[in-house]
Amino acid sequence: MKKVYVETLGCQMNKSDSERIIGILSHFGYEETQIPEDADFLIINTCSIRQLSADKAYSRVGVWGKWKRQGKRKGKYIKIAFCGCVAQQDKEKLLKRFPFIDLVFGTNNIYELPELLKRINKGERVCATPEKPYIADETQFEIKRAKSFNAWIPIMEGCDNFCTYCIVPFTRGRERSRTPEKIIFEAKKAIKNGFKEITLLGQNVDSYGKGLGDNITLANLLRELNKIDGRFRIRFVTSYPTDISDDLIQAVKECDKVCEYFHIPMQSGNTALLKDMNRRYTREEYGDIVKKIRNTFEDVTITSDFIAGFPGETQEQFNDTLSAIDEFELDYSNTAAYSPREKTKAARWVDKFIDEETKMQRLAVLNEKNREACIKSNKKFVGKTLEVLVESAEKRNGKTILASRAGNNKIVHFEGSEDLVGTFQNTKITRASTWHLFGELV
Ligand code: SAH
Ligand code: SF4
Ligand code: F3S
Repeated sequence: MKKVYVETLGCQMNKSDSERIIGILSHFGYEETQIPEDADFLIINTCSIRQLSADKAYSRVGVWGKWKRQGKRKGKYIKIAFCGCVAQQDKEKLLKRFPFIDLVFGTNNIYELPELLKRINKGERVCATPEKPYIADETQFEIKRAKSFNAWIPIMEGCDNFCTYCIVPFTRGRERSRTPEKIIFEAKKAIKNGFKEITLLGQNVDSYGKGLGDNITLANLLRELNKIDGRFRIRFVTSYPTDISDDLIQAVKECDKVCEYFHIPMQSGNTALLKDMNRRYTREEYGDIVKKIRNTFEDVTITSDFIAGFPGETQEQFNDTLSAIDEFELDYSNTAAYSPREKTKAARWVDKFIDEETKMQRLAVLNEKNREACIKSNKKFVGKTLEVLVESAEKRNGKTILASRAGNNKIVHFEGSEDLVGTFQNTKITRASTWHLFGELV
């Protein structure tokens, strides 16, 4: 058997794509390895969200190029493929820039891999990055899921929002949704195979179903998935603030398997800046949605994403971001310094760019605010009982410490037997640290 190594950068959508890639390759005589040095086929699945992520891909593949040359001298012929969001963006340029790459394939044609493989094995160098929107929807191949309890299931792909900073509409194309039948089929299979959690993925999960018919919405999909027999949980990411409908909140409330957790990126706490970002809500509208959700669920957590140093951001506007984290009691936020992306609107506003030093300084302040918010959020749960799914066990000072995740996505550590891995348990929270909770088995 030949060995394939896949390195995945980027979001859960990319991780899910990699699981499908490995699944397909395993039908064609490849076995996955975790050791890149052992592989006959090296694949890098790339992310283009910031320049930093793209640069990581270029430097990694550069190392592989050296291995390929060294291998050849010893009679070992390895193949190298470059896929994902940077591939979708750079296309043929990659074959020119990196003469050792055999295959470039985009986010739209993972399921053409068997054909592409034949061509590169004949010695051809191939670039396959069609513009036609396509959804990773084949069900004929097994998916090699990376996690043992959580199954990622893409429900929609692409984005029509064109936020002025964001590359995703260019790398993932226009929004398209999978049919409920395909999704339910995949979910049932995962649950039958022992998965305890399914996470529905999409760049904007709450606009799921657009174009498929009136009753096909995320809310109704959750209701259908909730009917599947078995003990498991359902999650969904990522939500666009103003696309969260009352019906969706209602569905989360009525479906016992759906977790009380919302990831709702705000990006900035300042309305004028939000407008420049082409986000279609004001600071107040974002707050209203958060309040509605908090009033509906007791132990809900709401997480967010923020960008520091967007073109034209003043110190006052940046302060609005800090105060939004406090005002809306956001439980955790992903943070990033603004990175100009080719083709996007904001990348052309060079005269409004914030200098690197200010950007980095704001990012540090933002991270500190996030840390504070996290401790505050964790402390809210001390004394409460949370139901958790046990994910792993580790020996520490002669004790077995279990790492688990609550429905609201909080990580809870507690002492217990290793057999509990993969089961649902109740834990009473005794202590909070910055990023975790500590508890005891009830
Ligand atoms: N669809 C999601 C976000 C997907 S991208 C949404 O609408 O919120 C993930 C995160 O990366 C974004 O939320 C944003 O905070 C960050 N991001 C996107 N483009 C960026 C850029 N050019 N520079 C810095 N951060 C960026
Ligand atoms: Fe990017 Fe905006 Fe689409 Fe999110 S909604 S993927 S930030 S363009
Ligand atoms: Fe990155 Fe593409 Fe995801 S740009 S964040 S891997 S959709």
